[in-house]
Amino acid sequence: MTTTVPPATRARTAGWWWFALTAAAIAVYAPLPYLTAPLAELARDDVGLAAHYAAQPGWVRAALLVHAACGGIALLLSPLQFAARLRARAPGMHRAAGRVTLIAIAIGGASGLLLAPFSFAGPVGTAGFGSLALLWTLCAALAFRAIRRGDINSHRRWAIRLFALTYAGVTLRLWVMLLMPILAATGVPEEDLFERAYLFVPFLSWLPNVALAELLLHRRRQPHPQTPEPHYNPGPLNPTPAPTTRTSASDLSRAPPPRRPRTLQHQPTPTRCTRASNSSRALPPHPTLPSPTPEHRQHPQQRAPRRAPRRRPTPVRRDRPDAAPDKRTTAQARTPTTGVTARN
Ligand code: HEM
Repeated sequence: MTTTVPPATRARTAGWWWFALTAAAIAVYAPLPYLTAPLAELARDDVGLAAHYAAQPGWVRAALLVHAACGGIALLLSPLQFAARLRARAPGMHRAAGRVTLIAIAIGGASGLLLAPFSFAGPVGTAGFGSLALLWTLCAALAFRAIRRGDINSHRRWAIRLFALTYAGVTLRLWVMLLMPILAATGVPEEDLFERAYLFVPFLSWLPNVALAELLLHRRRQPHPQTPEPHYNPGPLNPTPAPTTRTSASDLSRAPPPRRPRTLQHQPTPTRCTRASNSSRALPPHPTLPSPTPEHRQHPQQRAPRRAPRRRPTPVRRDRPDAAPDKRTTAQARTPTTGVTARN
């Protein structure tokens, strides 16, 4: 059987793989040297920022190691939290990985805040990385609070913002890679390239990410221009089964709610239904539905008053037709309880 994968689903899956793979690559590649060799040795080999931190007090060096480890864990686990299939199949794993990620962010954010005043980028680094550390821990706390209250929608929104901030660990390195050749083209000497490029990243690593996340969240909140809320929704209308689609292996930002069948006559939601004058605005009959009964077409207040329910005629006692009607129901009258009625 041929399967149709809608372009939107394909794009979401591709996007998820991009984020998952780049995050995993940086989560392993960036912290690994700091966790496997002494800082002095790394400084000699000029690895990352080791030379800058080897000269710092012991607690700053310790904070760097703790930060690198926790940042790596948060970055590695975060994309998994957006995999819709994993969430559906193993909700326990989503919760466990979520807790580990939040703890890693809390520790990574606190240590990042301690490192900010010692940043290689100077005061710009202190301001940029300091704000990032504060926002990172704040977003993690808000995502956690939302899910503790059972507010899944708010949890999802904070989780998207949180990932935009966590992904700064990747974008920082991508920006440095992009900026260095640009600066070289503008005549910056080769030995200064990294230092000059690094001045941009304390803010450039996360501000565009947050802006993109907000744009995505804003667009999600907008109703689709061609599919306004249907005015008349009498339930499952379209009996045609939906085309078989392969569900995306993953979904970075939660699968949108299923669209209503396209065959539905979408009408803008009326402001207020006003009695008889509204009859001209009544919905056209739905092509695939049996036409509504006149009662359905009318405004509730226009409907004919309900008729009183029909009463069964009171059974007449057959032994004494002239006697007062038997108060018992017909069924009771037929039941041989008292003897008199039943025997006759
Ligand atoms: C998103 C919040 C983050 C904040 C606030 C933050 C903060 C910092 C700060 C202030 C430094 C010192 C850099 C300097 O001297 O200028 C640093 C270095 C470092 N961070 Fe983060 N960081 C964050 C995310 C991450 C993530 C997700 C990772 C995971 C890979 C990570 C891994 C590292 C590593 C390995 C270093 C050592 C420097 C290097 O060689 O790149 N950080 N971070």
